[in-house]
Amino acid sequence: MNRYWTLSGKPLGAWPEPDTFELREVPPPAPAAGQALSRTIYISLDPYQWGYKRRGAESPGAPCHARTVSQVIESRMDGFAAGDLVFNTNGWSEYALMGEGVARPSYMIPRKLDPAQGRISQALGVLGMLGLTAYAGMVLMGKPAAGETAVVSAASGGVGQIAGQLAKLRGLHVVGIAGRETKCRFVVDELGFDTCVSHLSPTFADDLRATCPAGIDVYFENVGGAVFDAVLPLFNPGARMTICGLIAHYGDAAGTDARAASMKRGEEIFGERGVTVRDLFVGDFVETHHDAFLREVAPLVAAGKIKYLEDIRHGIETVPACFAEMLRGGNFGKMLVQVGNDPTVSAEA
Ligand SMILES: NC(=O)c1ccc[n+]([C@@H]2O[C@H](COP(=O)([O-])OP(=O)(O)OC[C@H]3O[C@@H](n4cnc5c(N)ncnc54)[C@H](OP(=O)(O)O)[C@@H]3O)[C@@H](O)[C@H]2O)c1
Repeated sequence: MNRYWTLSGKPLGAWPEPDTFELREVPPPAPAAGQALSRTIYISLDPYQWGYKRRGAESPGAPCHARTVSQVIESRMDGFAAGDLVFNTNGWSEYALMGEGVARPSYMIPRKLDPAQGRISQALGVLGMLGLTAYAGMVLMGKPAAGETAVVSAASGGVGQIAGQLAKLRGLHVVGIAGRETKCRFVVDELGFDTCVSHLSPTFADDLRATCPAGIDVYFENVGGAVFDAVLPLFNPGARMTICGLIAHYGDAAGTDARAASMKRGEEIFGERGVTVRDLFVGDFVETHHDAFLREVAPLVAAGKIKYLEDIRHGIETVPACFAEMLRGGNFGKMLVQVGNDPTVSAEA
């Protein structure tokens, strides 16, 4: 049988509640011509998935959307055979179809994975969409130059860890912003950022100012809210800000435009200091930059020059609780849920 999570149909509040989701059990679907059936191994839990649900992009009964790493078990789809390990979008589901007629975001194209290129779970993180997000936001949009200061919020998370390390490799003074002390220590001791300040501290704004004595040249925004307010006065003339995400606002009332509110608060400083502010959407870079990104980043990951922490939980039953925890900062590293055997790990063990 196939177990999957769907919206229960209860009205959605600001953040997920235990009764927001419902676990269903049905026989696995059979692939039609042009389709393949795969069993899910890793489910990626990402902040944007809450936005999907709140915007009404998913309906009760349908499996919740997610990027996944899976193994093909039956294929009638060209280019994929039983046994292949793949990146796809099985969602919060133990089994799903891919291929013809199966809805997915246009840029999340199923592809075969080569375990020789890195752990297959990393296709959902540093060697996949999140790595590309960090690369696009920091390298392509942030245009970091040696000697400058870069600040990265949600620094120990899936995107933030990579964005900061890419800036560090380019010779910048890199400051992370994270929550609890263990995360801040990890960002400095393991990832090699120069410093990391906690947004939970009552002296956060002063701490940030003290760690950026030369101001901020590149800001990689994952959070918004109070974190953005502390960063704002520190921008240098000509600084670049990439808005990757505004997670502090994902529970805002419908119709609230967090980006517009941030821009309004920043207007005077952005204008006076010539700060360039750009929104990032990773889908815009998949076709044009995915290969260049992998050429640069995959060898660095393999050589241990870019480190990447995953927070892997277990069992399809745990998915909604893990999701809610991640939105509150309970994850430590990229949040994944393993729901099936990973044959590459068993082979090594
Ligand atoms: N633009 C794109 O195409 C694109 C693509 C991928 C991801 N994103 C965005 O990138 C951001 C990071 O995503 P991710 O996958 O790397 O998530 P993540 O950082 O692994 O997890 C979210 C983290 O955000 C922090 N956080 C949550 N609420 C916060 C608050 N109110 N104030 C400050 N920090 C808060 C928590 O870390 P602490 O405990 O350290 O506070 C939490 O662990 C998200 O906004 C996401 O939507 C955008």
